[in-house]
Amino acid sequence: MADFIKNPVVDLLDRNPEPVFSGKDLSFSKDEKAQIMKWVSSYPSKEGAVMHGLWLAQEKFGFLPPEVIQLVADEIGMPYADTYGVATFYTQYFKEKKGDYVLDVCTCFSCQLCGGYDILHYLEDKLGIHKGETTADGMFTIQEAECLGACGSAPMLQVTNGPYVNHLTPEKIDALVDALRDGKMPEFESVTLPQDEDELGGNRRTDVSLTPTYGVCPVSETLS
Ligand code: FES
Repeated sequence: MADFIKNPVVDLLDRNPEPVFSGKDLSFSKDEKAQIMKWVSSYPSKEGAVMHGLWLAQEKFGFLPPEVIQLVADEIGMPYADTYGVATFYTQYFKEKKGDYVLDVCTCFSCQLCGGYDILHYLEDKLGIHKGETTADGMFTIQEAECLGACGSAPMLQVTNGPYVNHLTPEKIDALVDALRDGKMPEFESVTLPQDEDELGGNRRTDVSLTPTYGVCPVSETLS
């Protein structure tokens, strides 16, 4: 069961931890400031630029500790609390340092029924860490994710807010981890959309034989 269902009350981030970035290291370049101002001017109100600003900051600093959230707030001219609210609402914004690759394993309903927890536990065993942890070499972080909108391709995971890897099996996890260790990001695997289903003749896939995971319903060992 997802953590937030078991314990819907989450702790707020420490507002004043020891800063990770300071001085010259805690600033946007001239070009980055210009880009943020461009976003600010392209929305009816400056708040519209906050997601772009946070994303740019995450790409630059790797994650969003309070001093970086404050930097974004100051640049846009927004209160810290509002900027913090956006940064903490979306799990895609990292509030703490993560590994080079963040593996978001979906365990929401469709993925759960198709073995999402088996995949999560396999990955945890393989990397020797639990969800929420980062490997000692700083390469991988495992996270449990809510629905990522690829339910028809369950079970699936997302790599660092980027490519989707669908129809997961232990073999596919092995190949993915090997590829990432070699510095190769996977291609984004597209997901089954309703219009695809129409093209395939209704609401049933007709290419079952081409997709082994559809051949035998991969019911989670955890649930059986
Ligand atoms: S339940 Fe996993 S993508 Fe929707």
